[in-house]
Parts: sequence; C-alpha cells; structure tokens
Amino acid sequence: MDAPLLLVGCGKMGGAMLQGWIERAMVGYGVIIVEPNEMSVEPFALQDGIAVHATPDTIDAKVRPAVVVLAIKPQMMDGAIAAYRRFANPSTLFLSIAAGKTIAYFERHLGADAAIVRAMPNTPAAVGRGITVWVANKKAGPAQRKTAEALLAAVGEVAAVTDEGLLDAVTALSGGGPAYVFLLIECLAQAGVEAGLPADLAMRLARVTVSGSGELTRLSSESAVTLRQNVTSPKGTTLEALNVLMAPDGMQALFTRAIAAATRRSKELAG
Ligand SMILES: NC(=O)c1ccc[n+]([C@@H]2O[C@H](COP(=O)([O-])OP(=O)(O)OC[C@H]3O[C@@H](n4cnc5c(N)ncnc54)[C@H](OP(=O)(O)O)[C@@H]3O)[C@@H](O)[C@H]2O)c1
Repeated sequence: MDAPLLLVGCGKMGGAMLQGWIERAMVGYGVIIVEPNEMSVEPFALQDGIAVHATPDTIDAKVRPAVVVLAIKPQMMDGAIAAYRRFANPSTLFLSIAAGKTIAYFERHLGADAAIVRAMPNTPAAVGRGITVWVANKKAGPAQRKTAEALLAAVGEVAAVTDEGLLDAVTALSGGGPAYVFLLIECLAQAGVEAGLPADLAMRLARVTVSGSGELTRLSSESAVTLRQNVTSPKGTTLEALNVLMAPDGMQALFTRAIAAATRRSKELAG
C-alpha cells in the first residue's frame, strides 16, 4: 500500500484485523479509523500512525486512502455508506466484510467505477487463525486484489472465489461457524453436568476437548471421518453417543437446517 488505510468500524472484526495488520507492519502509511464508540477504538487510539475520527466528516478532504475497509454492521451500512463515496477513485479499493452486502449494493452507493472486494472473515482472526473468502468486482485491478488478499491473509487463511453467490453459504458456514463451535462447548459441558460432573470440570473438559480436537484436525493429514473413527471402538462408549448424534434427526439434520437458515438471512441482508 502506498497510502493510508481507512477503517470504518473498529469493533470485534475490524479491531481483530487491524491488530493483525499492525503486528505485520502492513500499514506503514498510517491508519485512519472512523469509530463512534470510544471503547472499541481505545486499544489503538494512542498508537503512532493512527488517527481516530468519530465521523468521516472530520477527515481531511485531501486524504486518498489506498483501501477503505468497511467493517460496520450490515444494518448500519445504509446510513453510513454515502459519506465514503467521496473516496471512490480508481486508486482506492473498498474492502467490505459486512455480511450480506453485495458488490452490486456497493456499486450502487459508491459508483459503478469503484473497485470493490467483498469478503467474509470469522472471529478466530483475533488469534490469526481465521478464514476469509473473498470476491472482487471487475474494477479491482491485479494490484488491488493482491493488497486485499494480503490484508485478509494477515489474520488467517484466505480463499478467493469468482461466484459471489457462494458468499451467503460461506457467511453461514465459516462466518458464523465459530458460534456453533462455542455452542458445542456449552452443550457438551451442560450434558456433562447432567451426567454428574461438577460444572467447572465439565466446562474445562469441553473447552480443551474442542480446542484440542481442532488442533488435531489442523495438524493431522487424516480426514475428519478417520479422526472420528479413531475414537470409536466397536461396541464402545463413543459408538453409543454417535448412534444418537448420527441418527436421522441428529447433528447432520440440525446443521443442514441451521446453515440453510443463516444462508437465507444473509440473502435477506443484501438489501
Ligand atoms: N463478528 C463476526 O463473527 C463477524 C464475522 C464475519 C463478518 N462480520 C462482519 O463484520 C462487520 C462488523 O461486525 P462486528 O462483529 O465487528 O461488529 P461490532 O463489534 O459491533 O463492530 C462494529 C463497530 O462499528 C461501530 N460503528 C457503528 N456505526 C458506525 C459508523 N457509522 N461508522 C463507523 N463505525 C460505526 C460500532 O460502534 P457501536 O458499538 O457504538 O455501534 C462498533 O464499534 C459486520 O458487517 C459483520 O457482518 C462479523
């Protein structure tokens, strides 16, 4: 990047990504943050090269950011986006991480010539272990695509797609996915309590089992099926549990419904 980065919204995702960019020294030309919530921006407010604005109106008219990262809630976008049209020029890339908001939506609000990348990250980005799927419009040139990929890769894995339609299901699966995994921890712990374990031990067992299994999946070359089968002895205890979880109304049916519901909601948010 040869100009500052403008970050609109420095909450959970925007803040996690900014942390990754600072740690990797990717924002050498400075960062301008627009964030009305002082608490959200507090970890960054006093750092060198970072300027904080409560609204975009106070940003110097001469500023030409290399990238404008849109990291506010999709529901806030309608009220906010018009103020950023003034930054739309061929050398500025707009990078949105807002669920549901389509490239067509941004072209409508920023002009058909705006270079736009729509991306869907997830919160493990906060520990550099996220995964982001992204798609660019035709106006985003090769250098801008490279910049987008580098910014997103700073907080985890990346996958580029050319079919924007996939982003709704991506949002449902990996965007919201961490919430389903945290729910799994809650459910395992509660089930442990109901089976007679003290609550703190049950929660510890659940947390370490889920995080350890995640790490094993990451480091192992075996498929998830094989890793599951490795825990499942014939006529053993795990098989009894899996018979419940893999019943026709078990986890697969639940997850299929859950992902379909989130995919539907992502489409509704398109506006
Ligand atoms: N969280 C996730 O797991 C996740 C995953 C993938 C993608 N995303 C996407 O990331 C985006 C941000 O989500 P988040 O979870 O980071 O939300 P968040 O924690 O609420 O962060 C949004 C921040 O933007 C601030 N804000 C509100 N209106 C603004 C405006 N007009 N200009 C500048 N800043 C404004 C909010 O301040 P207030 O608190 O005062 O409102 C808040 O600090 C969303 O579009 C979401 O779809 C989130």
